Amino acid sequence: MANELFTDYFFDEPAFNTHDGGYVPLVVDPAPAQPLAIPPLLQPDAETETDVWYTVTAMAGETQILPGAKTRTWGYNASLLGQTIVYRVGKHIHVTLQNHLKELTTFHWHGLAVSGPYVDGGCHAPVYPGESKQIDFTLDQPAATTWLHAHPCPSTAEQVWHGLATMVIVKDDHEDQLPLPHTYGVDDIPLVLQDRRFHADNQWDYRADYDPDGVQGPTAMINGTVNPVFDVTTQRLRLRLLDGANRREWRLHLSDDLPFTQIAGDSSLLPEPVRLTKLMLTCAERAEVVLDFAGYHDGDEVRLYSDDVPIVTFRIHAFAAATTPLPAHLLTIHAPQVAATTPIRQIVMSGMDEEVMLDGKKFNMQRIDATQPVGLAQYWDVTNTNTMHGGMVHPFHVHGTQFLVVSRNGHAPYPNEHGYKDTVGVNPGETVRLLVRFDLPGVYMYHCHIIEHEDGGMMAQIQTYDPNRPMPHYHLMDMDTLMKAFATERGIDPADLWMAGMDAYHEMGMEM
Ligand code: C2O
Ligand code: CU
Ligand code: CU
Repeated sequence: MANELFTDYFFDEPAFNTHDGGYVPLVVDPAPAQPLAIPPLLQPDAETETDVWYTVTAMAGETQILPGAKTRTWGYNASLLGQTIVYRVGKHIHVTLQNHLKELTTFHWHGLAVSGPYVDGGCHAPVYPGESKQIDFTLDQPAATTWLHAHPCPSTAEQVWHGLATMVIVKDDHEDQLPLPHTYGVDDIPLVLQDRRFHADNQWDYRADYDPDGVQGPTAMINGTVNPVFDVTTQRLRLRLLDGANRREWRLHLSDDLPFTQIAGDSSLLPEPVRLTKLMLTCAERAEVVLDFAGYHDGDEVRLYSDDVPIVTFRIHAFAAATTPLPAHLLTIHAPQVAATTPIRQIVMSGMDEEVMLDGKKFNMQRIDATQPVGLAQYWDVTNTNTMHGGMVHPFHVHGTQFLVVSRNGHAPYPNEHGYKDTVGVNPGETVRLLVRFDLPGVYMYHCHIIEHEDGGMMAQIQTYDPNRPMPHYHLMDMDTLMKAFATERGIDPADLWMAGMDAYHEMGMEM
C-alpha cells in the first residue's frame, strides 16, 4: 500500500473546471521571476507556560506584486494575505481581533475546532471598522494546516479576493516528534495558491471580474508572489498547500513527473503517507506533501505545475543527504463510534450560477437548518445534483468539525482522504458520505467553498447542543443589519449597494 504510486487526480475528469465555458485558464505572466514570499510568523504579544496572546489586525495596504504600480491589497498584520499564525494544541489562546478596514469584516478560523458562531468567526461575528473584539479558546485537535479568512455575508468572496486569507498552522507533540521537515521557511513552507486578474495600473477589480460560479484570474499568485522561485537547501521539502482561490481547482504535478508524498490532508496527518505524481485540490482544501530532491544537483530546477502552467520554480542548491526515511505510519485515526441507529442526514448541493442552493434553499442567517447533539457522530450524505457535462465539483465544507470521508457513491474514498478533513470535493452526480461529530455546542455554517456559491446562498447552518442542558439562545445576524452597515461604511445609499451575493438572492426573488 505505502509503496503504491498513484498517477491520477482521482476526481472525475469531465467535471474539471477546464471544461466550463466561463473557465479562465492560467497563463504565464511576463513578469520576471521573484523570490517566493515566505510570510513571517506572527509573534505573540505575551506568553506564559499555559497562555498565549496574539493580535490579528485586518488592514488595507499596497503591495509590489508586479513591476510598476503597487496593487491595493488587504491582509492580516500585513498588506497582503498575512503573517502565518502558529497555534499549539492545549494552550489557552487569547486573540484580539482588530479591524482597521473601512468596512466590517469577520475572522473565520477555517479548520479550527472552536465554538460557533462567535469564536468561529462566521457571519454572526462581525467586527466593525475601527473596533476590536477578544476571543479565547483552547485547541484539542490533531496538528494540521488550517487557515484564517474573512467571512462576512454576503461579501466573503470579495474580501478574500482583496487578500484576507492567511495560513494557521496547528502544532502538537505527536507531529513534532515525527521525522518530518519542521523548519519553517527552510524545509517546511506554506504555499497559498490563488489566482488574480491584474487590470490597469496593476489593480484588482472584483466587480469587473465577477462570475457567479466563482471569480478567477489568469495569473497564478503564490503567497502573493507572481512567478515565484524558492531556493531549496535540503533534500526534502515539505509544502503546506492551501487552495486559497475563490473558485480555481489546482491540478498539481512536478517536472519530470517527479513523485511526491502526501502526508496530510485538511485537518490532520494522513494515517499513512501516500505516493502520488498528481494532486488536485478544490477550494479551501489543504494538503501537505514532501518533495524529495535526491538525484537533483546544485543548479537544477524543478517546477510545480497546475495543469500545464508552471506556478513555482524550485532552484536546487547543494544539500546534505537525508538520513532517516519518512515514517511509514503517521497518525492513528480514532473514528467516532457508530451504531445501526446512527442517523443519516441528507444534504443536497444543487444548481449553478445564481441558482445555487443547499437543500433547495438559499442561506438565511436567521434560520437554523438542522440540529445535532454534541459528541454523537452522524452520517452526512452530501449529494451534488449537477450533471457531469456542464456541472461542477462543489467543495463541501463544515465549520467547527473534523470529519472522516466514509465513501463516494458507495465506493472507497480516494487514497489520500483517509485523514480528518473539513472540506471535500463532491463530483457531479455523486454522494459523498461523511462521518461528522461536533464536540462543542454552537451554530456552525456548512456550504460550498466556491466562495461565490457560498455568498450566493449555497449554505446552511446547524445548531449543535448538549442534550443534558437547555438549548442556549444565540444572537444571529440578519441581512438587513449587515447590508445597512456595508452601505453606510462604503458611504452609499443601501439601494445602490452592489454586492455579488445579494444579486443572487434578488435574482431568485428571495427575501433576505
Ligand atoms: Cu472557509 Cu465558511 O469557510
Ligand atoms: Cu470554515
Ligand atoms: Cu459550488
